[in-house]
Amino acid sequence: VPTLPMDLPEFIVLTGACGGLGEECARLLTLAGSTVIGIDLGQPLDELTDRGTYHHVLGSITDEATWTAALEALHFCGWSPSKTLGLLGVAAILDVGVLLEEDLQIWERTWRVNTLGHVLGMRSLLPSLTQAARGSIVMVTSVDARFAEQQLAAYASSKAALEMAVRTVALDYARTGVNINVLAPGPMRAGLFERHLASSNDPERFLATRTSRQPIGRIVEAREVASAVAFLLSDRASAIFGAVVTVDGGLTAGFDFRSGDEGSSVHH
Ligand SMILES: NC(=O)c1ccc[n+]([C@@H]2O[C@H](COP(=O)([O-])OP(=O)(O)OC[C@H]3O[C@@H](n4cnc5c(N)ncnc54)[C@H](O)[C@@H]3O)[C@@H](O)[C@H]2O)c1
Repeated sequence: VPTLPMDLPEFIVLTGACGGLGEECARLLTLAGSTVIGIDLGQPLDELTDRGTYHHVLGSITDEATWTAALEALHFCGWSPSKTLGLLGVAAILDVGVLLEEDLQIWERTWRVNTLGHVLGMRSLLPSLTQAARGSIVMVTSVDARFAEQQLAAYASSKAALEMAVRTVALDYARTGVNINVLAPGPMRAGLFERHLASSNDPERFLATRTSRQPIGRIVEAREVASAVAFLLSDRASAIFGAVVTVDGGLTAGFDFRSGDEGSSVHH
């Protein structure tokens, strides 16, 4: 059977390693042979720590000390400029609410973690990434960075800011050879979506509406998004630069998707 090999960075610093998508990425990337330095406020799965190629940094991405610890861990695990390196930003927080009923601290916290935490990450790791044999950055935002979603103003704006921060940094550092992109998922069966679901008055109906509006007819799995992340981190994505790659099962390909009652959709 012909195969299409994909060169992943030998070392990858991953934020949000204990969340739904972060865990899938850590699993996939370590299985594929990369050494992963995972950062999270939480503790990693035994399955990951048992694998010698996963190293955990416990802490918040909003603290400079966490990034210093991640850099130390990188060197401790054997990274040097002759090796390839990736930075993958997955950590995020989300609060559901409307402006006049929300504490301003929610906005501050959301922007601090989702946006500034990853700006800090790029500042900390860019010097190593530019020295590395090959460097790539993938920052995970959301389709909400471009499409407003009710009750998610703080979250959506934090992701929009991250998206433009990353694309602009990409241009500023374009000639350093580091490949820099954004990956924007739509709803997926992982932490943030599950909590948003649980916060609704009628979770069953929420899930049914969210599912039927997906052109592909289902909410995507975190594992599927992790595959797209791996591709973007790899040498195979070398011509994709400063881009936002949408991974949403078609949600934002159009609008008002009609599932077929009006004879408007071709079924298998
Ligand atoms: N789940 C979805 O439907 C969905 C949709 C679009 C985009 N996304 C994006 O995908 C990514 C992963 O989402 P998920 O659903 O897997 O989330 P999740 O809540 O399952 O995981 C997020 C992880 O980030 C960690 N984290 C939070 N704040 C942190 C901090 N200050 N420092 C370090 N770690 C911190 C959490 O502990 C958690 O393990 C996020 O960037 C999210 O915005 C998710």
